[in-house]
Amino acid sequence: MRLLVTGGAGFIGANFVHQTVADRPDVQVTVLDALTYAGNRASLAPVADRIDFVHGDVTDAALVDRLVAGSDAVVHFAAESHNDNSLTDPWPFVHTNIVGTVTLLQAVRAHDVRYHHISTDEVYGDLALDDPDRFTETTAYNPSSPYSASKASSDMLVRAWARSYGVRATLSNCSNNYGPYQHVEKFIPRQITNLLDGVRPKLYGQGRNVRDWIHVDDHNRAVWTILDRGRLGQTYLIGADGEVDNRTVVAMLLEIFGHDPQDFDFVADRPGHDLRYAIDSTLLRTELGWQPTYRDFRTGLEATVAWYRDHEHWWRPTKSATEAGYARTGQ
Ligand code: NAD
Ligand code: TYD
Repeated sequence: MRLLVTGGAGFIGANFVHQTVADRPDVQVTVLDALTYAGNRASLAPVADRIDFVHGDVTDAALVDRLVAGSDAVVHFAAESHNDNSLTDPWPFVHTNIVGTVTLLQAVRAHDVRYHHISTDEVYGDLALDDPDRFTETTAYNPSSPYSASKASSDMLVRAWARSYGVRATLSNCSNNYGPYQHVEKFIPRQITNLLDGVRPKLYGQGRNVRDWIHVDDHNRAVWTILDRGRLGQTYLIGADGEVDNRTVVAMLLEIFGHDPQDFDFVADRPGHDLRYAIDSTLLRTELGWQPTYRDFRTGLEATVAWYRDHEHWWRPTKSATEAGYARTGQ
């Protein structure tokens, strides 16, 4: 199988490429990545001699058409992915997430290539803290931020291309990922690298917001399960029953570092900050037989702390510019 992976130098895409090279020797991977501030070729260094890397943009129609024509399947991870950045400047989100997806859809349509679309549970908006319901495949879309609205748009475009043009597509909407190679702008790596630098963790607002954490390897195994056995046209929600509020995540990290669990600061809240995400992944589990392997969040967090401790050379070059950006918004 010739597999085109967009965004393969980013957090989830790079972990997907590592997993694919390790578990699927029959798959020939080509990565297409623009190497934005979030992309890092060093994340692919361990597999560099086993894959083809193309430095390019998913909105470049001629390039995308050529690469898709030479592929049997596409997994589309490439995106602008950070809510806070989307609030400062939404345009790259519209360009990459919406125009980029249409560019790929036109190419997979022209060449009848199997397509899997990577998306987020944030398209569903948020839930109250005491709401017994969780998101399912039939929950109405209700995105809050420019990021989640651009991802919702991209999902709608995939559904339209599947229905109107018969594109052989599946979609997955996953909850918050954690694990190695995640950019230091995101919540967990930001706090881990702050602690490594002797800086107190920073919680937005009151820190009561809940995220449904899943290890990136479990997300990627689910993506492979859907590629192997998913029904065409179907959306699958991916989640590992990992609901934890931000305060608890910070308290766990402080404990892992041997600090007082109160040793954090509250900073300015995110405008429109979603309160709670929660995924019901029954369909994926019952229809396709997927199960998460990381069942204890604390153990996964300890492994992630150990990874950042051992890979300072990977995260250090992006740390100070990221913190300078946060300083400008009081976060
Ligand atoms: P990331 O920001 O770490 O990586 C994105 C990658 O896409 C980078 O390598 C970047 O260089 C590349 N890219 C950006 N614009 C591009 C363009 N125009 N052309 C080509 N490449 C481009 O993001 P991530 O956290 O790995 O997320 C990957 C996908 O998973 C996204 O679609 C995101 O919406 C989705 N997702 C993320 C999470 C999460 O918790 N991180 C959860 C659910 C879904
Ligand atoms: P983030 O990693 O940006 O993911 P998302 O916005 O996709 O959920 O943030 C996760 C949660 O952590 C979210 O509720 C915002 C919060 N947060 C903080 O409290 N402090 C921080 O420094 C960051 C980056 C995020």
